[in-house]
Amino acid sequence: MIEVKVPATSANMGSGYDSIGIALNLYNTIKMEESDCIDISDVSGASIPMDETNLIYQCAKKVYDICGKPLKGMKIIEQCDIPQTRGLGSSSACTVAGILGANALLGNPLDRESMIDLAANIEGHPDNSTPAILGGFCVALLEYGKVWSVRVPMNGKVEFITFIPDFELSTEKARAALPKTIAHHDAVFNLSRAALLAGSLTTGKLENLGVAVGDCLHQPYRFDLIPDGRELVHAAKAMGALGTFISGAGPSIIAVVDANDKTYLSRAEMYCEHNFPHWKPIRLVCDEVGAVVTEIK
Ligand code: HSE
Repeated sequence: MIEVKVPATSANMGSGYDSIGIALNLYNTIKMEESDCIDISDVSGASIPMDETNLIYQCAKKVYDICGKPLKGMKIIEQCDIPQTRGLGSSSACTVAGILGANALLGNPLDRESMIDLAANIEGHPDNSTPAILGGFCVALLEYGKVWSVRVPMNGKVEFITFIPDFELSTEKARAALPKTIAHHDAVFNLSRAALLAGSLTTGKLENLGVAVGDCLHQPYRFDLIPDGRELVHAAKAMGALGTFISGAGPSIIAVVDANDKTYLSRAEMYCEHNFPHWKPIRLVCDEVGAVVTEIK
């Protein structure tokens, strides 16, 4: 049996819409092996399809098809600790698990680049799927079916206090809220900040982060779909965050915090308890490893 452990991801990080993402230390862990039938179970209480519409199964089947190998069925045991439909890359993690798991079961016919391309083409969001495979902080784009990416080293110790609400927001709905065209000055606003974000995280120039995560391409439209989202961002900044942004398509919100600020999480927990009871902050850090495949007995 193969076990695949895939990290959560936060795409965009504000200014890097559809192009920047980071892996975080929250995981979906999937066990899989070939079987005579489809046998899918979940040990984490997540609600998942148990038939051939299951995303992990579909991605695994895709790899078998590409490699010209028949697949009768598969036994899949899911432990999905990444909350679903919260902007933390849960579906990307399942896509990556299906691809990497099937590849391992077939004796690794696909190289890593091919799997990065396949994951982005299935998932549609290279800013999620690429850091889910590589770990770390990544810049990634998809052009004519190929991913062009770089994993950018990070300097400076930051933590990601992630405020997760008790409600969902589908990526489809969050993308439908965006305008079809944007003004030239809005494009310049974001591209300058996205470049500043990558440069600032690489060099550890953390004082730039507040400006560097600034965005006018997606967040202003998405906040209307996230009850208390704007207020929470203001509060997170007032509590001392270096920068704040909607995680992925939302609704979770991330406050980037100096790792030396040891009491930020407890202040945030207290604040949410009193003011935003539908939100729970958790402390995450960057996952530096990415997806890991192991053979288990
Ligand atoms: N970059 C994508 C978006 C991520 O913001 O819609 C979706 O997880």
